[in-house]
Formats: sequence, structure tokens, C-alpha cells
Amino acid sequence: MITMVPKAELHCHLEGAASPDLVRRLAARHSVVLPSETFDENGDFAWSDFLHFLKVYDIASSVIRTPEDYRDVTYQYLMDCAAEGAIYVEVMSSPDHAAAVGMSYTAHLEGIVAGIEDARTDSGIEGRIIVTCVRHLGPERGVEVARQVVAHPHDLVTGFGMGGDENAFEPRDFAPAFEIVHASGLPCTVHAGEVAGAESVRAALDALPVQRLGHGVRAIEDPDLVRELVDKQIVLEVCPGSNIATGVYDNYSDHPLLALRDAGCRITLNSDDPPYFGTSIGQEYDRASNLFGLDDTALREVTMTAIDAAFADPETKRKLREKASL
Ligand code: ADE
Ligand code: ZN
Repeated sequence: MITMVPKAELHCHLEGAASPDLVRRLAARHSVVLPSETFDENGDFAWSDFLHFLKVYDIASSVIRTPEDYRDVTYQYLMDCAAEGAIYVEVMSSPDHAAAVGMSYTAHLEGIVAGIEDARTDSGIEGRIIVTCVRHLGPERGVEVARQVVAHPHDLVTGFGMGGDENAFEPRDFAPAFEIVHASGLPCTVHAGEVAGAESVRAALDALPVQRLGHGVRAIEDPDLVRELVDKQIVLEVCPGSNIATGVYDNYSDHPLLALRDAGCRITLNSDDPPYFGTSIGQEYDRASNLFGLDDTALREVTMTAIDAAFADPETKRKLREKASL
């Protein structure tokens, strides 16, 4: 049962949105044989912990090799979201994953743009792209990705971010990369407070020009930091299903979504890497209803928060607010 409250998603990794079936189809398209341990006996992605997840994610992503592949991944994901009632989705793209299989920044972008435009035509869903760097690949690669973002501006590329292993390097190491993009006028977000604690969130907030945080949930470990998030109106891209799947929290009753919300933090709901974590944007809204007790009014507020915090132009936001109120 997917609640029909209009939904908006700010945090989904495009390479992590490709279903196992699509990954197998793309592997066949390129005559690539993936290691059998990429999948479990049910055909789902097989991984054991967060760092192993990142490895399997890299392997599965390596079959996305052409603009057409990126188009197909984007189109299928957005159409699935639209079928669950999503009206707006920001997808994070990773030029480093594209480069690992020989694809240029502009080639990967061309495919994603085609996927967004085709899905908009076929379903009405609106999409934007947040280009991300990968933290464990280091600051120089981050600067390289940032330079490409600025060198190839596109109407649908509306933000910059960073994922990867939160325990690698320090946020300040990536300040040069973020400053390049920020100086060009694009807003930024960063993963923090997912697999590391409140000190990691504070380090990210102190060093990087971000308006939103990917996850950010472990800020709950420091009440002063929670107050700072409230004061600065930092929006949290909360991904409860992801946090349970990766073991950040053992179960939903331990998850701090409600505590953060009650403290005044601005909360959105997101799927992160849906097929890896057995989730979807619709299921995140459903669980927020069934497990966190958010009624339809509260869920609609979550959508309005996402629209407010979206990296999109004012006219697009106006139209989205109108749609979300229906
Ligand atoms: N890249 C893809 N999924 C991620 C996650 N959940 N955290 C950090 N980096 C990621
Ligand atoms: Zn993420």
C-alpha cells in the first residue's frame, strides 16, 4: 500500500537506483559477466556491511557504460517514482563512476538529461541532477569533478554533493572542491552523520558551504548540534530504510527521525539506494506513516519541506507546490 500523498525526493544515488534486473540487462548489453557473488540466491544485490555495500555498488555500477545506459537507468527510476506518486526527484550522479568505465562527464550527463526529459514527457515527473564526488577517492578527484560541473553548466544540474566513505579524509579537505561549485552559484549538500557521529556532522558544517545534509541523523548525539541545525535551517535528507539496512540503527524504534523532527529539524524522506536497501520513495512514505505515525498532513509537510529545500528554480517550485497541494 503506497500512500497517494504527493512525494518529493532529494537523495537518491542514480547508480544505486538501477535494479538488479536492469544491471543484468546492461551487463548482457555489453557482454560483461559480473562476479556471481554480486547477487544472492534471489537475484538481489548481495552485500554484508556498509563498506562491502560500496564495493558491490561499484561493481554493479560498472555496467552503466554509455549515455543510453544512463538514460535507461534514469528513465526507469523516475517512472517507478512517478508510479508511486512522486512529483519531483533529485538524482545524484557520479562522474567518477562514469569515468571508471571510460565515459566522459558530458556523455554521462547527456544520458541522464535524456532520461529526465523522457520521464517528464511520459509521466509529468520533474527531475534535477546533483553531481557528486566520492569522498574515499580523495580531494583531488573532488576538485576535478567540481571543475567539470562548472565547465559544463546545464539547466538540470542544480547542485553538488559528496558521498562515499564518511570515515575517509576530513570535510575540510574537500573545501576547495565545494568552493569551486559554490562560487559558481550552485547550492551544495554533503553526506554526514550516517556512518560517523555528530563530530562528523559538525566538521562538515564548519568546513563546507552546505544547505542540506545527506542523512545527518547522527547529529542527534549532540543536542547543541541539533540546535545549530534548527537555527541554520539545515534540511536533513533522511533515509530511514537505508539506515536500518546498513545497520546504523538496529530497528525503526531506535531511529531518530521523530526526535529530530520534534526538536525542530527540517526533515525529508528519501530512498538513498533503493534496490540495495529494499526500499523506494513510496515505501519510505508508507513506513513514515505506519512506523513513525506521520499522518497525511504531516507527510504532505515533508513533501513541502523537500520542495522548499529543492535545488530547483522558483518557478518550478511554485508549480510543484501547486501539485503537492492537490
Ligand atoms: N554512495 C552510495 N550510497 C551511499 C551511501 N548510503 N552513503 C554514502 N555514499 C554512498
Ligand atoms: Zn546517500
